[in-house]
Amino acid sequence: MKVIIFNLLEEVVTGAHGEHAWADMIEVSGVSGVYTSLGSYPDAEVLALVDTAATLLGQSHADVLRGFGRSAMPLLAARYAHMFTPHRDARSFVGSVNTIIHPEVRKLYSGAACPHFHVTDHEDGALIIGYQSPRHLCALAEGFVLGASDQFGESVMVDHLTCMMDGQPLCRLAVRWLP
Ligand code: HEM
Repeated sequence: MKVIIFNLLEEVVTGAHGEHAWADMIEVSGVSGVYTSLGSYPDAEVLALVDTAATLLGQSHADVLRGFGRSAMPLLAARYAHMFTPHRDARSFVGSVNTIIHPEVRKLYSGAACPHFHVTDHEDGALIIGYQSPRHLCALAEGFVLGASDQFGESVMVDHLTCMMDGQPLCRLAVRWLP
């Protein structure tokens, strides 16, 4: 996983619980904890950190990923404002993830293994996001979508119609806008 994901996790954890919490998480997780060079670090380290946070907070692994994704979005918006400014709403922003945002991320971070999404409009007004990745980080995707809607001052509900965690071939997330 690219270093930015570790840096965002550190920023979210220290922002919410203080620097000592990040240091504790590094120690308990048994990871290197040095995420400085512009490279990639093992996925297993980010997963170990998420597991530790889940234990410390008494939450599920999915809840931690979801919360992390949601809290990371304003940090991404501050760093990559140009990815957000062309959009007037979350639907347009989320719809551009596969075609504009992640392709740009792959250029910025050589070797980035961003997931591919299949985004379609459902006749009932929902946005359907098909997600498939060997990393099975659908809860992170959900958190990013929630964070994006916060960013545009909107309120959404995200439902998993199918989930890779239940042995399905792909996740299908239905995003519905609340009045
Ligand atoms: C709603 C919007 C977004 C969604 C749903 C989304 C979803 C995801 C997910 C689920 C991953 C985990 C990798 C995997 O599943 O295989 C990921 C990775 C990543 N995303 Fe996004 N993302 C969004 C927006 C952004 C934005 C705005 C950035 C801006 C920089 C970004 C940068 C990255 C990076 C750097 C990675 C790590 C790739 C790697 O380490 O190889 N994403 N994204």
